[in-house]
Amino acid sequence: MLPIEMQPNIYWVGINDRVTELFEGLWPIKQEGVSYNSYLIRDQKNVLIDLSRETTTEDLLSQINALVPLANLDYVVINHMEPDHSGALFALRQIAPQATIIGSAKAVEMMKQFYGITENIMVVNDGDTLALGNHTLKFFSTPFLHWPETMMTYEISQQILFSCDAFGGFGALPGSIFDDQYHNLTVYDNEALRYFTNIVSAFCRPVLKTLDKLSDLPVQMVAPSHGLIWRSQPQHMLALYKEWAGYDSSNAHPGVTLLYASMYGNTEKVMEVIAQGIASENVALRIFNISHTHISYMLPAMWVNQGLLLGMPTYEGNIFPPMKAVLDMCKTKHVFHKTAARFGSHAWHGGAQRHFEEMAELLKWDLQECFEFSGGASPAELQKSFQFGAAFARKFKTGV
Ligand code: FEO
Repeated sequence: MLPIEMQPNIYWVGINDRVTELFEGLWPIKQEGVSYNSYLIRDQKNVLIDLSRETTTEDLLSQINALVPLANLDYVVINHMEPDHSGALFALRQIAPQATIIGSAKAVEMMKQFYGITENIMVVNDGDTLALGNHTLKFFSTPFLHWPETMMTYEISQQILFSCDAFGGFGALPGSIFDDQYHNLTVYDNEALRYFTNIVSAFCRPVLKTLDKLSDLPVQMVAPSHGLIWRSQPQHMLALYKEWAGYDSSNAHPGVTLLYASMYGNTEKVMEVIAQGIASENVALRIFNISHTHISYMLPAMWVNQGLLLGMPTYEGNIFPPMKAVLDMCKTKHVFHKTAARFGSHAWHGGAQRHFEEMAELLKWDLQECFEFSGGASPAELQKSFQFGAAFARKFKTGV
């Protein structure tokens, strides 16, 4: 994409990445892509805010050069050192050594660790300002959102918050960068939620602390380092973050996420009847076969639904291994405070339930009665499956 002027002399100079298949080597973006949003302010002092990953350096430098010769760049603000935003820094330093790099004290340590850069660096602290001419930058320290060095940059005259990873989303930008030019914000919000649960959710307390810090700040535009720039609804993503960040310690939506795995179809057959029981109570339900679905796509549903049903057979006296991986990721990403239950079959002896209960305790889940059966479910057990699903669903009906 070509550079886009966001306000007079303030430009988006970002890059769409439609090549990387796994973000952080972990999260699928093969279908969705991702953008690395960089921003350029032209003034008496020219400043670049955030970069892109190393593989896109040439495109980024070309974007900047179209507006400001690299030799005329005065400052480079590094809000966050993760290499999707700092990867181009080493090359930029070789080409534009006159540009002073700005970051938090922790970011400066990381510049040495990642790129061996130690010269012409300016450390900024929370609340510091930098006059550029007609524009002034103010820096907000936002540690652990989501790395220890992270900060945000605010342009005072136009009230633009360059929020880095916070308030961003997966998905390459579709020829435009603003929320009011995007025609299906529900789809985008889902990708922003996937980003939140994949990247940010382990840091809910820093999210809430940051929102508190920003609560009195007048904001006309929120410009994250991935995804859409919010100008028609600048508070939209901040409000969603406040809601989402609350779910690691308080009740989420009254719905059910059902994750299951089945080796030969016995647990799956029961799952289908349990789903009927849940549906009979008219409670929202999302179903995922964990053997076919990447955890990246399951985390958002788990995060926003209060109910979590896990169907899995016992495997060699233990939790079915792919479900163990899901539970481990729940711990990593702080999928806490759920109302949960397990169902599943075993061939000769159980064992999964005991190990599941140990995991559930670590996850602070409110565990409900389980439903186990041997081999294939009998007609009576299928009837029981329906009742099991309906009883679980009734816990999420308002007023019950
Ligand atoms: Fe977009 Fe934490 O990097």
